[in-house]
Amino acid sequence: QSEDTINVCGQEYTKDEWTNVTPNILSKTSRKLHLHQSHPISIIRQRIENHFATFKALNRFEPTVTTKMNFDDLCIPADHPTRVKSDNYYINATNMLRAHTSAHQLQGLESGATKFLISGDVYRRDEIDSSHYPVFHQMEGLQYFDMDPEITAKQVQDDIASQAELAANTVQLVDDTLVKPENPIQDRHAPEAAQAVVAHLKHSLNSMVRALFKDEPNLQVRWIDAYFPFTSPSWEMEIFYQGEWLEICGCGIVRQDLMDAAGLQNKIGWAFGCGLERLSMVLFDIPDIRLFWSEDERFLSQFAAGEIVKFKPFSKFPPCLKDISFWLPEKDWNENNFCEIVRGVAGDIVENVTKIDDFTHPKTQKRSVCYRITYRSMDRNVTNEEINAIQEKVRSTVEEDLSVQLR
Ligand code: PHE
Repeated sequence: QSEDTINVCGQEYTKDEWTNVTPNILSKTSRKLHLHQSHPISIIRQRIENHFATFKALNRFEPTVTTKMNFDDLCIPADHPTRVKSDNYYINATNMLRAHTSAHQLQGLESGATKFLISGDVYRRDEIDSSHYPVFHQMEGLQYFDMDPEITAKQVQDDIASQAELAANTVQLVDDTLVKPENPIQDRHAPEAAQAVVAHLKHSLNSMVRALFKDEPNLQVRWIDAYFPFTSPSWEMEIFYQGEWLEICGCGIVRQDLMDAAGLQNKIGWAFGCGLERLSMVLFDIPDIRLFWSEDERFLSQFAAGEIVKFKPFSKFPPCLKDISFWLPEKDWNENNFCEIVRGVAGDIVENVTKIDDFTHPKTQKRSVCYRITYRSMDRNVTNEEINAIQEKVRSTVEEDLSVQLR
């Protein structure tokens, strides 16, 4: 491997000005948490796969995809903001670590299956807190029907009738999302056909959530309108957890251009993408997303294949807080770049990064920010010297790489 190339999942790529994957991130591509039988992420994957028992389960796609698969194939325009370098991990201008399992929708459609699930690790540059980590796992689901208003409705009814009763429990499902002009049925779809598939989608996801949460009597779930370039109409499903609504799933009716691209002009389908960490955090009571990556036996030994048990926290180690303030450069400031540096230097010892001050000097118009970094290990005590050394490294790297002026 030379200076100009980079090896990702066993393949050599030429680096260019888009390359922003880091060794820390690349080290996660071989972990495959969703395939470790007794890991919480895998237990949830298997639960969902068992629930959708007649779907073909595809869970071995590598996380390296082309930008065409991640964006273009999904009707995401060339200038769409989700493509920005600061939100994604690019291998180079045309290859990246997938940002969602939707990157494999077309492959799924081309596999010949009329209903399938795709699970895997996905990568996004993001903020740092207890529910955000640059790598997480998603499960994609897709099912399609014949596109003929009479046939579609009949197929949908028969399919729902063939399923077991919805788990009778008290999960509170709120859905007042009627199809609205801002979240429209596609021109190519007869309203009757689209409505039938929407009903099937909602039925499918509601029954999945009810099955998963059958022992959580007070869980609140809601549907809200959403937008995705590759579905219309589109929704999100959220669950109420620890005082806030957590998005667990995006979904909608698949854009017909995508069905066309797979040679399925006469079919109409729905798709969803669910975050497996969010579901696992709620089901297993796992308080911090970093725990999923722990190799500590005190974590791993608590779980067994097929079982959902409540996680018993081992003693929480004390945090160490450090503040960093600096003047921002005139241009090109991006918070995710800052978080990436903190992650790169501190690894999983960083628990949270929060901006605690943001000030613009009235005369010079120069902007100064202050971030509070919480360092805490999941499995041991950290020493002040060790954190000071990390903080020093963060300071010098930020100064050098982001052209800020430390205060
Ligand atoms: N890929 C979307 C995301 O990651 C979720 C999604 C999947 C939405 C399938 C619609 C259909 O947010």
